[in-house]
Amino acid sequence: MMSSLSGWQWRGLVVALVALVAANWLKPAPVIKPYEYEIINEIWTPQEQSELADMVRSYSEFFSVISDQTPATDNIGEAVPYDPEKGCTHPLMVPSRNGSHCILAPRLDIGRHYVLTGGNTGLKESYDKLVSRLLSFAQFFIGSNKDALAQNIPLIDKLFESPAYKKAVDKVCPGHPYLDPFQLGVIVQIPGQTVAMHYDAPWFWGADRMQYPIWLLVVMHASGLFHDIDLPQIQGVAYIHPWKVDNMTDADIASTFGGSFFFHHEGPERAPGRLAPRPGSAILLDGSKCIHGTDLYLPPGTTDAPMMQKDSKPSLVYSSKNTPTTPTRDTLWNVVADGKVVTTYKFSDLRIALVWRSKCFASKEEKRRYDNTPPLELSAILERLRADLVKRNRIDKDAVIAPIDFATLLLNEYVNYPLPRNTWMPYNYCALPRLFGEKQGGIITSLLKPFCT
Ligand SMILES: [Fe+2]
Repeated sequence: MMSSLSGWQWRGLVVALVALVAANWLKPAPVIKPYEYEIINEIWTPQEQSELADMVRSYSEFFSVISDQTPATDNIGEAVPYDPEKGCTHPLMVPSRNGSHCILAPRLDIGRHYVLTGGNTGLKESYDKLVSRLLSFAQFFIGSNKDALAQNIPLIDKLFESPAYKKAVDKVCPGHPYLDPFQLGVIVQIPGQTVAMHYDAPWFWGADRMQYPIWLLVVMHASGLFHDIDLPQIQGVAYIHPWKVDNMTDADIASTFGGSFFFHHEGPERAPGRLAPRPGSAILLDGSKCIHGTDLYLPPGTTDAPMMQKDSKPSLVYSSKNTPTTPTRDTLWNVVADGKVVTTYKFSDLRIALVWRSKCFASKEEKRRYDNTPPLELSAILERLRADLVKRNRIDKDAVIAPIDFATLLLNEYVNYPLPRNTWMPYNYCALPRLFGEKQGGIITSLLKPFCT
């Protein structure tokens, strides 16, 4: 296949690629007011960290994060009946929660960018391999009140009451000191996994993840058209894996283990900040405004993530059968998919983060008003977006656009996840058939297959 291209065609292909990449890099980065963040070190004592590790062990089973899907209205009109024989054939669609329809993936904004670019490090891999890297494991408590969260993770109260945390709230949510914690989770990654760059689900007065697909909420935020109803929030990420890294610098930890948290606090066009995954360190920021994710986690002596399909319901399960009764309690955990053990890890091989989120209000009274705000109609949201696209001359006023095309148009126009910075070719040509169909994407992928890993 490769030899079928003439010399001129090859030169044309190379020139086109170089022009594409150069146009991206030469574009001047706009200056924005940086997003505030706060890093807190040594949140917990060593004894408390050990208790947190025990708490994680006590859950015994963690489930793939792919199952996090909650909205009452899960599509903007693109839904089509699920085909029991063929499944969801459109590359960007997945089965709805009850399996009756195919809808755009709830985090279409993340998946499309990740597959197209290979993530922040520009991996050149197949769709299936990339998906395996994203299937980290979690226990989530959504919609709980503060007491319920504290019951699940008792040490969270100590953090919320600490002066360092209050200072962080002042910086990230100025003028909004009344916090409404709504989500707490433990996220576990096995070696070879990553969190693709993303915005956290934004919350608006009258629109949130319980009502609409998160990709639409992200479009609303990124468009800048809904700032009048935007709600500030604060996200915290704390590392609680019991690694022995006392004598290592942050740079050593980052280069040895990978898995740093990266965050574009100066906007998507500029290099991100990073927090190495040092046990007991935490970062606080508004993750719905500041793009963030994690570097590939691959500590020495471990192997790359196993291939897992998202439909195989992967889970990470404590293996009492195989765990030796050693004093170090380095328990063994099985990755199970389709009911079968895929591979086994030591507890110390896992990257474990506590993640929590709170909405920020000016006062208790403001929260009460928020809770009583009627939902925004989907048609009103789409109309505001559509009117802006007309104003920008992207579509004609009377254009008839299929919902699925409208969704793609919105993502292309507004959602500005950056391209990988450390590679000459910031697009993942190895997964193009999945995004553009076999006919269009397959030709380029066949040509470049020798360069895929
Ligand atoms: Fe996040």
